[in-house]
Amino acid sequence: MSASSKDLLRSVRVAPSILSADFARLREQVGEVLDVGARIVHVDVMDGHFVPPITLGPLVVAALREQVEKAGAMLDVHLMIERPERQVSEFIKAGAHSITVHAESTPQLAYAVHLIRDSGACVGVAINPATPVGALSEITDAIDMTLCMTINPGWGGQPFIEHSLEKLPRVRAILSEDVAVEVDGGINPATAPKCRQAGANVFVAGSAIFSSADPGEAYLAIAQSLQTD
Ligand code: DX5
Ligand code: ZN
Repeated sequence: MSASSKDLLRSVRVAPSILSADFARLREQVGEVLDVGARIVHVDVMDGHFVPPITLGPLVVAALREQVEKAGAMLDVHLMIERPERQVSEFIKAGAHSITVHAESTPQLAYAVHLIRDSGACVGVAINPATPVGALSEITDAIDMTLCMTINPGWGGQPFIEHSLEKLPRVRAILSEDVAVEVDGGINPATAPKCRQAGANVFVAGSAIFSSADPGEAYLAIAQSLQTD
């Protein structure tokens, strides 16, 4: 990879979420965003328990690995599953460059974080909109990224929760400078700059990119709203 995953997560980046992609043309759709500069590809894993839908697993991560690595990009795996510590090794083997687990999904959060860290991947902890910022406070020294959900997890295409703009500065304030803040849900050219101002630096966007007729153009519209590429 040309830049390390940690460096990518520390920069200002739009991270296309393949959840809203056409899975029958997944390679082509991922290619469209890599071609215009995307370097973080966000992969949403749902188990039908932590959130109602079931989406995808390590096989899809493995299928994307070569294409993504060839472009100097990374696979950012967002686990919306119960007891994620039981699945970490499978996603590492499949090629995940970062793995994010939800603080709400396991009583063994520190163990899950250390498993990911020991594997060499970047580690993120996510919190849902109603989860207090304090859920992160005992783990901040061990993580590379916080994912602040700006919708309730489970589905793409939901409206951005405005309260997030008040929460994000409080998330940013408890983290050291080198810990990334990712936002996920309802991100588009109108909401991304507001989140940047509130302290976020990685912007996950699913439907705003892949529900568009031209995902490359839609990616660039969000990147331009952040004045980055
Ligand atoms: C939902 C996922 C998101 C989803 C966002 O739980 O975590 O990554 O793809 O979709 P949009 O950008 O459409 O809100
Ligand atoms: Zn996500």
